[in-house]
Amino acid sequence: MYAARVIRLARPWIGAEEQDAVRRVLETGMLVMGARVREFEDRLAERCERRFAVAVSSGTNALELALEALEVEGGEVLCPVLSWPSPAHAILRRRATPVLYDVDERSWNGSADGAQAARSSEVKAAIAIDQFGMPAADEALLGVPVIVDAACSLGATVDGRAAAARGLIACLSFHPRKLLTTGEGGACLTDDEGLAERIRVLRDHGRSGGGFLEPAGNHRMTEMAAAIGLVQLGRLDTIVERRRALAARYRAELADVTFQRPARDGVVGNWQTCGVLVDDPDAVVAAMRADGVEAGRLSFAMNRIGSVRGRFRAGSAGFRIAEQIVDRGMALPLHPLMSDADQTRVIEAFREHAR
Ligand SMILES: Cc1ncc(COP(=O)(O)O)c(C=O)c1O
Repeated sequence: MYAARVIRLARPWIGAEEQDAVRRVLETGMLVMGARVREFEDRLAERCERRFAVAVSSGTNALELALEALEVEGGEVLCPVLSWPSPAHAILRRRATPVLYDVDERSWNGSADGAQAARSSEVKAAIAIDQFGMPAADEALLGVPVIVDAACSLGATVDGRAAAARGLIACLSFHPRKLLTTGEGGACLTDDEGLAERIRVLRDHGRSGGGFLEPAGNHRMTEMAAAIGLVQLGRLDTIVERRRALAARYRAELADVTFQRPARDGVVGNWQTCGVLVDDPDAVVAAMRADGVEAGRLSFAMNRIGSVRGRFRAGSAGFRIAEQIVDRGMALPLHPLMSDADQTRVIEAFREHAR
């Protein structure tokens, strides 16, 4: 049985300001691709130190449009093996082969060495993934176009710059589990004007200059979503600060537990997910939930999931570290509305059940 009040694993911070912003949009009757979407794009670009932002309907669509804009069709695309399925799915949907490689033991992200070792002459692009909001360190090197999957890393920084300032294109998600939410939503960020324009065309039925240039889908963001996003952007710094403080306390009070760590100095995560490794995560999660603390399991190894199994090339000799993170990983509740007293309850429940 759950205790009286459940401490949620994650919870978006949505308040009266978002409700007012949506109501004002509804009153205008202009619900798609208007002033709010344009303003949200401008503010996002500024925040992420990019020239252009193109708002779309999900982080998954952002990845697919980014690959299409880079003209990936067939060939191979590098991708770390530990992830939510969207990057590998996006690659497969471009009829390309994901080249999966193991992650780094410290950062739980792909490493530059891992990506380099996985390369072949067939590689057309690479997706670097900022797992759980910790920027990866594998995006620089490769001599191929790099998409940074920054779905989780809005507000994180690398050497003092926005994580989403990296890569030829960076993709964001605004799903409710992310730092900033619009319900569903996403964005592509780039400094390349041609790519930005191409993504704008691809998100809107292939339309440009009053004509339809090519068959394309509809991946537009609504004005309601952008209005919510604008309010959320105003509180992003507070959200990041609170998440970092909560994560710092977890790490201090659970000093003997393995947490995700930055690959190097200068990389600062936003703690979108606070993962830890334990011996029997199913048992710990179940026991914590019985105490009213909603812990959860961590990510997926792409080599194991049905939609990717048998359709990838192995870019490393096995996936030992990713599989260990999947088999031993669990997420502790962490969201900006959590009180210090809530966190004390989580720490006590974890200490009791993880031993
Ligand atoms: C690393 C990563 N990429 C992409 C996505 C997809 O984002 P969305 O849910 O907005 O489609 C997610 C979502 O969890 C993610 O974690």
